[in-house]
Amino acid sequence: MNNQNTINEIRSKINIIDLISEYVPLTKKGQYYWGICPFHNDKNPSMSVDEKKQTYTCWSCHNSGNVFNFYEQIENITFPEALKRLGDRVGITLDGYKSSFNTKYNKYYEIYDLTQKYYQLMLNTDKGQAAREYLKKRGIDSDTIKEFGIGLALDEKDKLVGYLKEKKYDINTLNDLGLANNDIDTFINRIIFPLDDRNGRVVGFSGRIYDNSKMSKYMNTKETAIFKKGMCLYHYNASKDAVRLSKYVIVMEGFMDVIRASTIGIKNTVALMGTALTDEQISLIKKLSLNVYLCLDGDNPGQDADLHNGELLEKAGLNVKVVCLTDDEDPDSYILKNGEKKFKDLVENAKNYSDFKIDKLKSNVNFESDVELSNYVNKVIKEVSTIKDEIRCEIILKKLAKETNLSYNTLEKKLNEYKSLDEEGKKKVDNNLIERKDVKKDKYQRASIEFIYYMLVNPKAIKVYDSKKLYFIDSATRNLAAEISYYYHQYGKIEIADFYTYLNDKKELLDVFSEVQSLNLDEDINDVTLMEYAKVISDYNMRQEIKRLEEKMRKEPLEEEKIKILESIRKLRIGE
Ligand code: CTP
Ligand code: MN
Repeated sequence: MNNQNTINEIRSKINIIDLISEYVPLTKKGQYYWGICPFHNDKNPSMSVDEKKQTYTCWSCHNSGNVFNFYEQIENITFPEALKRLGDRVGITLDGYKSSFNTKYNKYYEIYDLTQKYYQLMLNTDKGQAAREYLKKRGIDSDTIKEFGIGLALDEKDKLVGYLKEKKYDINTLNDLGLANNDIDTFINRIIFPLDDRNGRVVGFSGRIYDNSKMSKYMNTKETAIFKKGMCLYHYNASKDAVRLSKYVIVMEGFMDVIRASTIGIKNTVALMGTALTDEQISLIKKLSLNVYLCLDGDNPGQDADLHNGELLEKAGLNVKVVCLTDDEDPDSYILKNGEKKFKDLVENAKNYSDFKIDKLKSNVNFESDVELSNYVNKVIKEVSTIKDEIRCEIILKKLAKETNLSYNTLEKKLNEYKSLDEEGKKKVDNNLIERKDVKKDKYQRASIEFIYYMLVNPKAIKVYDSKKLYFIDSATRNLAAEISYYYHQYGKIEIADFYTYLNDKKELLDVFSEVQSLNLDEDINDVTLMEYAKVISDYNMRQEIKRLEEKMRKEPLEEEKIKILESIRKLRIGE
């Protein structure tokens, strides 16, 4: 029996209702079971579980999947681990699991994997001497180099490209993957840090200069089909065990911070890699732990980022603390300068986010000015109104009363005002969430999504897709359609719950897929209706293409070129 079948067998032997019930009470209402969604700050039961399909969907945060998806996220473990544990429950062992599904991305992962090993080898050659010295000077020993898979891109234009070409990889693929740029090595003369995705697979690289070169300090792999900078966190997968033990995750700014922390045994860390915190990163963090310590650079931009990011994380329902570094230090330099103990003390004494914010509010207030003072008091009370712990609220208010000479009663009255306001505010947010779900889609968007639904439940739609070579403008929709067709031809039928497993390597398609799952259409559909769908989709594409050509024509200075474009437009219009 091959891996796919074994995986699908494990899936089919675990009833999703039983599994989810271990974590969330479910009640049956109509066709579905309902429960509080554990993956967002849910108040009413928003998650439905479909016993027939063996899938779950949250109608509010759009998390959806099969037993594996649920188990992976709730236990905060990787897919292979989930597979192993669930397999054990039903007495099926899977020897030497490797991603068993044959997907077009497998080749990409394979290339990145080879590349990483290649760069690691290069660091140990004679030509790696200067880079090795640089790392040594920064206090990075060979164990750390190994732990973080650090390597070296040599000072030659066709080193990696030559090596990979020899392995019969095609240069276009290397260009697409950001390893080559116009057919020569992208990374030249840089120390290489591999970047992993949430499952620990290498999906890109960052290269740092190590001599006095004038080039920019860091250079990253461009965005590719499998790498989006804002969707990754450095050291994410590798931090999981440590986070589980410590019950919190420390968010830092750069690679060097995470690497340095690891040298003193602090491994529950991730790094933003210099970007602003994105929604995707917030939900990744949320899957690791609900407790976050922000430990960004000690300079002003770093503190502002603490303030801003803390706000975003608290809004997402996380408990935030802030580790305050002294001015102009980052965790890396702080640890080097002050040593392990001082840094660990600092982490242990991290401030609650609200205290940090209140301190910040106070820092520039002129207590002599009535306006500034009243402004300050209002802002602090507003902040206090978000704190759930009543004892802490009282402590802060008492402190505030003392330092401002206002009566506790006045402050408390104000607090209650803010609290009732806040509830209103929250209600508004919830409504927005619901409205966002119902954003009106145009005819084309509806047709695309519905067509994909039919592709999943009715092979006739796949036939139409293949024969009409349907093209969807949105890349996630387009790729999902391609994967559905591929899957169908490979396995002969589509079991929705198993298709979720197949999407494991393609998490970026999950949003569209969940959206499709939330449609409730009939499975029966006739050829005529399917052709109508196909026509809406291709007409739309044609109109977009005509628009593009018209734009191109407007910008084209040469008369003869204009005529050529006009001819293409004419052909499109008459459907040639
Ligand atoms: N970064 C980047 N591109 C740059 C500069 C920074 O992608 N040109 C990202 C890197 O991920 C880096 C992070 O932003 O780790 C933080 O930047 P910085 O504080 O300048 O880097 P350090 O981690 O301090 O690196 P080093 O100590 O090696 O100078
Ligand atoms: Mn830094």
